[in-house]
Amino acid sequence: MQPWRRLILLSIGLTFLLILSWVQFSGSVNPFAIIQNPTRSQQSPGDSDLDYDNDSTFTIDDVQPPKLELDDNVEHWNMHQLSEMYACAAGNGTRPCHPNREKIILLASGDTKFGLWYGWRRGESIWGEAMFREFYDLGYTVLVTEGWVEAPFLYKLYGPQIQIVVGERPGKCIYNPQCVKSTENPDGIPVWKIFDMNYFPKLDWFGTPTDATPLGGPWIATAVDNGPDYPYQYIGYSIEESCLAQTPLPASQRENRVYILMKELAFAHFATAWEPSYYARAATDLGIKFVAGYGDDPKFKPGGQDRPVGGWKDIEEPGKVDNLGGMGREDFLRELGKSRLLLGVGMPNWSPSPYDALCLGVPFLNPVRYFDQSDPDNQTKWETQHPEITRLGPGPPYVYTVHARDYEGFVAAIKKALATPIERYIAPHMKREAFRQRLINWAETDWKAKAEELDQVGWRKKAVDLHREKGETLNIDFVF
Ligand SMILES: *[C@@H]1O[C@H](CO)[C@@H](O)[C@H](O)[C@H]1NC(C)=O
Ligand SMILES: *[C@@H]1O[C@H](CO)[C@@H](O)[C@H](O)[C@H]1NC(C)=O
Ligand SMILES: *[C@@H]1O[C@H](CO)[C@@H](O)[C@H](O)[C@H]1NC(C)=O
Repeated sequence: MQPWRRLILLSIGLTFLLILSWVQFSGSVNPFAIIQNPTRSQQSPGDSDLDYDNDSTFTIDDVQPPKLELDDNVEHWNMHQLSEMYACAAGNGTRPCHPNREKIILLASGDTKFGLWYGWRRGESIWGEAMFREFYDLGYTVLVTEGWVEAPFLYKLYGPQIQIVVGERPGKCIYNPQCVKSTENPDGIPVWKIFDMNYFPKLDWFGTPTDATPLGGPWIATAVDNGPDYPYQYIGYSIEESCLAQTPLPASQRENRVYILMKELAFAHFATAWEPSYYARAATDLGIKFVAGYGDDPKFKPGGQDRPVGGWKDIEEPGKVDNLGGMGREDFLRELGKSRLLLGVGMPNWSPSPYDALCLGVPFLNPVRYFDQSDPDNQTKWETQHPEITRLGPGPPYVYTVHARDYEGFVAAIKKALATPIERYIAPHMKREAFRQRLINWAETDWKAKAEELDQVGWRKKAVDLHREKGETLNIDFVF
C-alpha cells in the first residue's frame, strides 16, 4: 500500500476507534439514546450499546442488510461497511440494527478481492465471493483485504468485533511476529481466530506446510467435503440460486447426445479414464453423438506434463464427436442442458459442473479413475473424479459410476442414462440454507474454547518442527 493511503486509512480508522471506544466506555448511558429518547435513559447496565427500538412492528426485514452493492474498490467497501457498523453502534433508536452488524468477518483473501473487484473466475474466487455474499446477507460486517499485510492493522483497530479471519496461506500471519498475537505482540490476531481458506481438503495443497495453520482440523476451511476421515471444516457453497435461475429443457426437446466434461483436449489423454477411441466408437455403437467444448492451449500442462511432440491428438470426428469450442458459462449451461448425460473423463477433480448438470436434469457419469484391480468393487480403494458425489450421492439414475477403461460399462451407463430422464436435482448440502447454516456455525462457534481443548504441547511443537525442517527457527510465544 502506498504510504499516503495507509495514512488516510489510519486516520479514518483511528477516528472510528476513538468514537467506538467512547460509545463503549460510556456504558449504559448512551449519549445518542438520551438525546433522542429520554424515557429510555434508564437502561440497565446489561443493555447493549445498540439502541434497539422496542417497537414490535419491526420485523427481520427491517434489519435485513440492503441488497448488496459493491463500492468501486475494496477500500471504499471496507470504510462504508465500518461506517454502517458505527451507525448501528451509535444508533439513534429510530431503526433497529441487525444483531450481527457489530460482528466482523475479515476475509484476508486475495482470491476473494480479485473475484469481487477484478472479475477473477477461478474456483477459489467464486468460493470466496459466495462466502462474502452470504455472510453479508446474514447481516455480518464483512471486510476484505488482499492478504495478510493489512489484516493485523484492521485487527488492532477492531479486534474485539472480529469473529474470524479467513484467508489463503495463513502461515504468512501465524508465523509473522508482527501479525499474530504473542507475548511480544499482544494486539496481534490470536492464532485461534485465523482460518485457512483451502479449497481442497488437503493440507499441503497450496504452498508449503509453514503456509498452513498448525491448529489443523476445523481451522482449515474447505470448499468440498471429503468426509469424516478428513477432519477439515467443510464450508462449501450453494448452487441453489444459480440453479433456480436456469430452466431445464424437457427430455423430449433434448438431442440424443452426451456432453463430455473437458475444457482442454489434454484431458482426453492425460490421466484419462477412457481410451480416446471410445467416443467415436460408442457414437457408432449407440447411434448417438458426443459434444464437448474444449481448447488446446499449448501452455496447458496437466500435472506439469509436457505436451507430446506434435501436440495432443484430437478426438473430434464430425457427426460423432463435435467440438463446440471454448464457451462462457451461459453457453456452457445451454449446451449442457440440450444433452442427456454429462460424461466425466477423469479430470478435473471435484469440478462443480456435475452439480450444474444435475440442476439442469442432466445425469453425470462419474469415472472411477483408480481402483485396486484385484478388488475393483472395494470403494475404500477408489479414486473417482468426484469423490464428494461418490460419498454423498446421489446414485443412479442421477449419477452413474463406471470403472476406468471399462468399455462395456461405459456404453451400458450411457445407454441407461439416455433412456432414463431425470428431474432437476439439488444436493442437500448444496442448498442455500445448508450453506448459511455452516457459515453461522463457523462465525458463532467459540473457537478459543475449541483451541484450548487441543493438545497445547503438540501443536506448538509441530509448528517448531515444521520450521526446523526448513532450517528455520520459530521464536513466537503464541498467546490466545
Ligand atoms: C419491550 O419488548 C418486550 C419484549 O417484546 C416487552 O416484554 C416489553 O413490554 C416492551 N417494553 C416496552 C416499554 O414496550
Ligand atoms: C436518526 O435516524 C433517522 C433515520 O435513520 C435519521 O433520519 C435522523 O436524522 C437521525 N437523527 C439523528 C439525531 O441522528
Ligand atoms: C476394502 O479395503 C479395505 C482397505 O484395504 C479393507 O480394510 C476392507 O476389508 C475391504 N473390504 C472388503 C469388503 O473386502
